[in-house]
Amino acid sequence: MRITDCAGTHIGASVADFDHSSASEGDITALKETVYRRKIAVLKGQDLSPQAFLELGRRLGRPETYYEPMYRHPEVSEVFVSSNVPENGKQIGVPKTGKFWHADYQFMPDPFGITLIHPQVVPERNRGTYFIDMGAAYEKLPEGLKGEIEGARCLHSVRKYFKVRPQDVYRPLSEIIDEVERKTPAVRQPAVFTHPMTGEKVLYLSEGFTFAIEDAEGKRLDEELLRRLFEATGQLDRSFEHENIHLQSFEKGDLLVWDNRSLIHCARHTTTPEPTVSYRVTVHDERKLHNGLEAA
Ligand SMILES: [Fe+2]
Repeated sequence: MRITDCAGTHIGASVADFDHSSASEGDITALKETVYRRKIAVLKGQDLSPQAFLELGRRLGRPETYYEPMYRHPEVSEVFVSSNVPENGKQIGVPKTGKFWHADYQFMPDPFGITLIHPQVVPERNRGTYFIDMGAAYEKLPEGLKGEIEGARCLHSVRKYFKVRPQDVYRPLSEIIDEVERKTPAVRQPAVFTHPMTGEKVLYLSEGFTFAIEDAEGKRLDEELLRRLFEATGQLDRSFEHENIHLQSFEKGDLLVWDNRSLIHCARHTTTPEPTVSYRVTVHDERKLHNGLEAA
């Protein structure tokens, strides 16, 4: 296994000659340290079946199966499928997922630390995923804004981006909304937490899932504050040219492993969609999202 940091940026490392079936415990530790330190590790030359991809994920942690069945791979339920390419006339997984800023499972009470993506059908144009390092973004916030969110907590919900399912056709929208609120009630997390693996401070909010902010006493703060935080971190830049935004490209055979505590991401899709298929496995590492959750 050879790990090479990407030059000219603080994000990204390339990992060659990695084989999950023969990797030593030392290799796994080194890979995870790279993910926490460089935020994204790209494993090169991987060509894994859904089952083998899951096995790779298991080397890094405890897999989390996506809560909505329509996203699951029909044979390996721990594999989440994003696809706009029908197989034998049948839709597998869900098309156009994640086209908004978010951290995976941010709306759930116990989000996992690591996300793995293994692209299967790679688009010719517009490939890649946008990322923002919310640890680095927090560091860059003006001191005044940092002061305003000291001790604050954010509320996160899937409601804005919940995708209606085939079985929802002909259901009243109010009934679907009630079900979403009942099954995935909004969760509270500190606006800023200490990353348990790196010790850095992470601003934990996203335009896709975060809908409210409150002070340390639980009093709702002006929504304008949230908007300023989205703005300052680069999430409102529709041209994706903000200096905080990192475009991570990939090619066939790549497998991306990233730090789902520090990074938020946004899928890159266009209005003229090209065939795109990718598999995702998500795993809990040795720690919770932050140490406050362990005590709770
Ligand atoms: Fe995602």
